[in-house]
Amino acid sequence: MVLIDGKKVSSDLQQELKSSVEKHRSAIGKVPGLVVIIVGQDPASQVYVRNKAKSCKEIGMNSTVIELEAETTQQLLLDKIAELNADPDVHGILVQQPLPPHIDETAVTLAIDPKKDVDGFHPVNIGNLVLGHLDQCYISCTPNGILELLCRYGIETKGKHCVVVGRSNIVGKPMANLMVQKLDATNCTVTICHSATKDIASITRQADILIVAIGMARFIKAEMVKPGAVVIDVGINRIEDPTTKSGFRLVGDVDFEQVSLISSAITPVPGGVGPMTIAMLLKNTLQSFRRANGL
Ligand code: GUN
Repeated sequence: MVLIDGKKVSSDLQQELKSSVEKHRSAIGKVPGLVVIIVGQDPASQVYVRNKAKSCKEIGMNSTVIELEAETTQQLLLDKIAELNADPDVHGILVQQPLPPHIDETAVTLAIDPKKDVDGFHPVNIGNLVLGHLDQCYISCTPNGILELLCRYGIETKGKHCVVVGRSNIVGKPMANLMVQKLDATNCTVTICHSATKDIASITRQADILIVAIGMARFIKAEMVKPGAVVIDVGINRIEDPTTKSGFRLVGDVDFEQVSLISSAITPVPGGVGPMTIAMLLKNTLQSFRRANGL
């Protein structure tokens, strides 16, 4: 059984990105810039945003965090985005979700210039992904990170049955659309399962590659997995655990203890898919910088 080490792959990738940024700095005296906007005080979002900014700095990119009060109006946020769209030193704009309820997330996503939408959430980027115009779009970071893991671990995908559990706009839908593309690292037959799917186990058991993103702790049990399958766990769920100092621990959407005994490869939680998301955000920002500078 292969343990897919996302922490190591992410760290290798960040080293590669760091040397690319350094090359650009010496060649043209410019580096990529990412702006992250956070509205309100959600503690989990604050941690994510801080980590994104820290990783940017570590690889030599510019990063700015704009912290706006929870009461910020939608118009003020849209004006800020318009300003950043017009700023040639800004290559990536990310508005951390969730936003407060009085702000329309769709309006915010639409306001970001697709060329700077390093999250890959804008309909233009999603549309280009569906059409297979991958050189013209940004792929959302978690699906792109999973693809990178499959590539780096040499997992064969052509003609395999990939089952995606979950249909979110951030993970499930772009993931399924990516795996069906005619690329060396994809080219799968794809099935999507979701909360209304009947007899989900009968479908997950057919998967050669099982990708799970439903946000339910240890939902996938051994009897739902075909022996020898590759299992990718996107879930991050907090469960109570009195044996730990904090009183809780993180588990995925897959019952790792059971499933790791029969899978051929599996991502752990933490340390699997999670660390890849930031690495892919940095990769998208570098890509935007290259496109903006004709490199
Ligand atoms: N909230 C949780 N994950 C993400 C992400 O990848 N991008 C944004 N913008 N918000 C998030």
